[in-house]
Amino acid sequence: MSERGAPPAAEKRVALVTGAGRGIGRAIALELAASDFSLCLVARTRDQLEETRALTGLPKERSLIVLADLATEDAPDCVMQTLLDCYGRIDVLVNNAGWAPPRTSTIKMRAEDLDRILALNLRAPIALARLAALKMTEQGGGTIINIASSAARKTPAGEAVYAAAKAGLIAFTRAAFQELRPNGIKLSAIVPGLVDTSLIPHNKRLDRAMMLSPAEVADAVMQVVNSPAHACPVEITLEPQFDPERSR
Ligand SMILES: NC(=O)c1ccc[n+]([C@@H]2O[C@H](COP(=O)([O-])OP(=O)(O)OC[C@H]3O[C@@H](n4cnc5c(N)ncnc54)[C@H](OP(=O)(O)O)[C@@H]3O)[C@@H](O)[C@H]2O)c1
Repeated sequence: MSERGAPPAAEKRVALVTGAGRGIGRAIALELAASDFSLCLVARTRDQLEETRALTGLPKERSLIVLADLATEDAPDCVMQTLLDCYGRIDVLVNNAGWAPPRTSTIKMRAEDLDRILALNLRAPIALARLAALKMTEQGGGTIINIASSAARKTPAGEAVYAAAKAGLIAFTRAAFQELRPNGIKLSAIVPGLVDTSLIPHNKRLDRAMMLSPAEVADAVMQVVNSPAHACPVEITLEPQFDPERSR
């Protein structure tokens, strides 16, 4: 609840979820829909977003689909404009869309992959957070959640650029929280270990049953969304209880 004005009725609250077509983003969209949010679902693949929409059970007028490649420079502005034209407000932003190629050493990485990793995992979430914060400030509050990764902490070989982007996203979250807390805006970075999604290629050294599920990450998101008005979980680290990496 904002300190400056009455909160909107539950069904009037609006959440934007990037990368909502599958994996963690879909699980987050389902949880937010179950809490009566209206949604804006963003990714590049229409069929997957339509499937997410169907699973939420929300009518079309409460489940806007926006197709966008967030690694392109104009995409964050276009997405936010489309959302605001439709709903006129934003209460929750979940910057979830992310990507990394299979482990590749930095010197062997293609220049276009380097740019894409930074644009999608770091630039786009910051650009969307900036636009959301402008509107949330006008509204008297809101919540911005950034899905980072344990790669930022574990810094594995072959994931240097991805780890740098996610570490940057965590640093942005913490610094922007300091800037935006007087405006009633919560910021949180969720830092998950391995999650069983299509982002993680099949590999016999990985026990997928031991990985986190997308729903478990979505639970952490809802912990932030439902946190008391005077408290903000600025960072949540979530690791699988048992290590999915089998010893050789
Ligand atoms: N899986 C893990 O072990 C793990 C661990 C820690 C953190 N994470 C983070 O969690 C987030 C979600 O990952 P996930 O595992 O759920 O991945 P995923 O199953 O591959 O889903 C990624 C989602 O992002 C969308 N996306 C990808 N590139 C995009 C682009 N350029 N523009 C717009 N949307 C794009 C995808 O849809 P389209 O391809 O249709 O665009 C899809 O909906 C990512 O930020 C990832 O870094 C994952």
